Amino acid sequence: MDLFSSIDLGPVQDRISELSKLIDHYNYEYYMNDRSLISDFEFDALLRELVDLERQYPELASPNSPSKRVGGEINKSFRQVTHRFPMLSLGNTYSIEEIEEFEARTRRLIGEVPFTYTCELKYDGVAIGLTYRHGQLVQAVTRGNGAVGDDITSNARTIKTIPLRLRGEYPDDFEARGEVVYPFEAFNQMNAQREVDGLEPFANPRNAASGSLKLQDSSECAKRKLMFCMYFMMLPDGEMRPAYETHSGRLDSAASMGFKVQPHIKECKDINEIKAFIDYWDTERWNLPYAVDGIVIKVNQTPLWDQLGMTAKSPRWAIAYKFKAQQASTPLESVSFQVGRTGVVTPVANLTPVWLGGTTVRRATLNNADFIASLDIREGDHLLVEKGGEIIPKIVGVDMQYRQPNARPIAYAATCPECGAALVRAEGETGYYCPNRELCPPQRVGMLEHFVSRKAMDIDSLGTERLELLYNSGLVRTVADLYDLRAEQLIGLGVEGQATIQAKGADNILSAISKSKEVPFERVLFALGIRLVGEVGAKKLARYFSNIDALMQASIEEIAQVDDMGEKTAIIIHDYFANPDHLLLIERLRAAGLQFVAEDRTISSRLAGLTFVVSGVFSSFSREEVKAHIESHGGKVSSSLSSKTSYLLAGEKMGPEKLKKAEKLGIKIISEQEYLDMVGQE
Ligand code: IVH
Repeated sequence: MDLFSSIDLGPVQDRISELSKLIDHYNYEYYMNDRSLISDFEFDALLRELVDLERQYPELASPNSPSKRVGGEINKSFRQVTHRFPMLSLGNTYSIEEIEEFEARTRRLIGEVPFTYTCELKYDGVAIGLTYRHGQLVQAVTRGNGAVGDDITSNARTIKTIPLRLRGEYPDDFEARGEVVYPFEAFNQMNAQREVDGLEPFANPRNAASGSLKLQDSSECAKRKLMFCMYFMMLPDGEMRPAYETHSGRLDSAASMGFKVQPHIKECKDINEIKAFIDYWDTERWNLPYAVDGIVIKVNQTPLWDQLGMTAKSPRWAIAYKFKAQQASTPLESVSFQVGRTGVVTPVANLTPVWLGGTTVRRATLNNADFIASLDIREGDHLLVEKGGEIIPKIVGVDMQYRQPNARPIAYAATCPECGAALVRAEGETGYYCPNRELCPPQRVGMLEHFVSRKAMDIDSLGTERLELLYNSGLVRTVADLYDLRAEQLIGLGVEGQATIQAKGADNILSAISKSKEVPFERVLFALGIRLVGEVGAKKLARYFSNIDALMQASIEEIAQVDDMGEKTAIIIHDYFANPDHLLLIERLRAAGLQFVAEDRTISSRLAGLTFVVSGVFSSFSREEVKAHIESHGGKVSSSLSSKTSYLLAGEKMGPEKLKKAEKLGIKIISEQEYLDMVGQE
């Protein structure tokens, strides 16, 4: 008899169901109704209990368990799925006249039957379709080309406003369509963090939403605070009931199933009501917490949809009106220059304040020297400022009617406004930067931010504000100063009129700093902020040199031997360690107890004294893994073939050039299997 089948899993199953229901309920109240019914601590305890039970009894874990909200699944690539119902787009227009024509045509085609329209917001995000069967979310697919999209189900499960299991009454089988948007507040927070982490910020919330849905690790997507707004219910034949005979009725039903549907939908009976709705939202949209780029007008009575039919690409029963970007012309009073955390200098236009899209615009970025040149902005010009679907106003041109004869070009700053250093323009780059990394205040704070960031030393109790506080108070000028901090220096620290650091806060800061002493060498190396040494580069250097002393003593040629480390980077690294200030810094960090030696990953010394060049694709390892494997057995890996190479380890699809060169140099070529035999591994 199967031993396990005799264990009664009933009580476990019951507890899992109970926990799931409770968590679903608290999530719903929190994300849909803005109501916190229990403390974070209690909520986490419930979730942890559920996760533990599901880990212990995986056969009882449902794919729609609320534990899936935190993600954890990895998508190597996204499966392509054919939409059951093609995902159509709507005809769209910027012209009110065309909306009038749409309305008149619709009325003519429908004839005598009474009907209405719904007007609703057109979200500026990413369209997705969610399939529900028996009340369970089974699949989430992006629009793709309308016929075929990407299966993003595991990422969609992490979006709190997407119900995983429906409540109340629902059709047995249907598709919910809507838009995934990135609310401004969450978007701005995420972008600010990206800059601190040295990552390229997203251009706008739509791109960020789209990028987030394509993240390979769904737990990363879970952190993104995306929102789903449902705007359409696609019903197969046979699922019809009276409530679904109007579009507004379908959305009301969807809301009772647990979907977030927009509250700003309005039933309109004629063109005047439609126009009033459009007018209202043309300005009111700026007060919404997410981007809206137009209004969608649909015939409300769904049985009329079939009667109206389709044009080649889009339904005849709906149309989208797109808001025009709002524009204003205002005098340029002056240009100031801002130095960012990385030293890049950004020119900013100081404008005569002008009312635009619900806010007063006083300043707008001029991006860089090339931007100013390409728009030919001169002193005394009036500039055209535009606000499109996003919140940040853009300079789009010069209002030439105000151009003064002999207007002088903008004088670009020659020195850094923060530290006075002469600005530098790197060849081929669009802007200037301040080269004084070591002494320029915003750059110093930037270095501190980088040092404490998550992927570096991960000292999360020190945010930007606190770092600025520590820097401005003179307590922390270099990263090594962090390790000398004492509680009595921190307590009471603060900006006038704002909260100061209390004993508990000081304690948290000091314990996070102290904990960072365990961070492995590769991340310490990354944290140093050596130019062009990113997370991956630091890892490679740490693996190759094993400790800081070997790296500090290495020549440019030796550093350039490290995989993918170009000559330019090698010179920068070498220069970094030639600077006595840096050597002092490293000695202080070492004395503080930071890790400057890589963890020993040695498994054997079978390959000691041998140098390998690795090329091609392998069946049991990635390229990085092969290299790590060779090193863990005491071998060395080099990127180019030379007389010092002992073996060329050849995978599949290796280039013929390498092969030829190896043969010419008389280097022994071995296959993956021969290599595994060599280290004595299956
Ligand atoms: S209805 C068949 N309603 O705008 C009708 N679309 O071309 C399906 N969109 O691709 C669309 N907000 O991604 C509809 N309230 C809304 C919308 C909306 C945004 C997007 C959708 C569609 C495009 C219109």
